[in-house]
Amino acid sequence: MTRALLIDTDPGIDDAVAIALALASPEVNVIGITTVGGNSGLAATTRNALRLLEFFGRSDIPVASGYDEPYGRAKMETGYEPVHGNDGLAGVDLPEPTTKAVSTDAPAFLADKIRNSPYPVTLIAIGPLTNIAHLVDKHPDVIPMIERFVIMGGAARTGNVTPVAEFNIWHDPEAAKRVFASGINTVMVGLDVTHSVKTHEHLWGWLKDGSKFGNVFDHILTSYTDFYSMFYGERMTHQHDALAMAEAIWPNMMELEPAFIDVECQGDLTTGMTVTDTRLRNDVKPNGYVAWSIDGDEFHTRLMSALAALASTVG
Ligand code: BDR
Ligand code: CA
Repeated sequence: MTRALLIDTDPGIDDAVAIALALASPEVNVIGITTVGGNSGLAATTRNALRLLEFFGRSDIPVASGYDEPYGRAKMETGYEPVHGNDGLAGVDLPEPTTKAVSTDAPAFLADKIRNSPYPVTLIAIGPLTNIAHLVDKHPDVIPMIERFVIMGGAARTGNVTPVAEFNIWHDPEAAKRVFASGINTVMVGLDVTHSVKTHEHLWGWLKDGSKFGNVFDHILTSYTDFYSMFYGERMTHQHDALAMAEAIWPNMMELEPAFIDVECQGDLTTGMTVTDTRLRNDVKPNGYVAWSIDGDEFHTRLMSALAALASTVG
């Protein structure tokens, strides 16, 4: 049976790839997208969600915008524009959207979609967890109705923004702490798995075909690759969000281990760290799963075939 999918996102280049993967996968039916501040401010991430959907010919999917300000602290100037560009999509040439976000805010929109879905709902969050923390606070009744909750965020081992913190958690650690404590069973797809998969430039070379779809994706992926190559000296990227999306679309594509996950919000050196306890001693009960690995070749095969399918509809 098709599962309903709700996507909370801060597009974001790898978010755009993840959204494309979901739209092209018949296993899930995307019933709504909510936007959050993260890779860029909320106005930019909402604009990007709308114009991407229009570009994909899927403006039938409603977009609700959420929170710009983090749940638990003042917004920081992240200085991470080099990753996704000032507009969140590396200045890509995509027209302004002709559609608008719905008037409902993201938590109310998610709650309504979850309550009224005739199909089991998977919720995936591929940005900071701000909207989801507010969902937990304002609409706690829907939390047990979510069949699966997958996030791209966190790191049991090594971080990216700091040695121990991953960006989506670090941006709003109190929100992540609230979500992990909410009783929602979370599949944490963090850097442990996303850093293990390298998406080399040659894998998507076929997007340099001069088509409309190819031009947009070649532009954003080239920019993302330029950024990564400064650090790694290799023409590759980590497709964090599309990897998490793969686990949302194809449950258990990853090796998962039960864990009790909590978030450090105060440490001078450790703020934003996802403290991941897989020992589960002394009656500690897991509140989710940590993802450790995935078959990278299989992921790339599925991702490229999804992008090709979407490309054939966009032109
Ligand atoms: C995460 O941070 C963002 O830059 C990406 O979109 C991804 O969601 C990776 O740390
Ligand atoms: Ca993201």
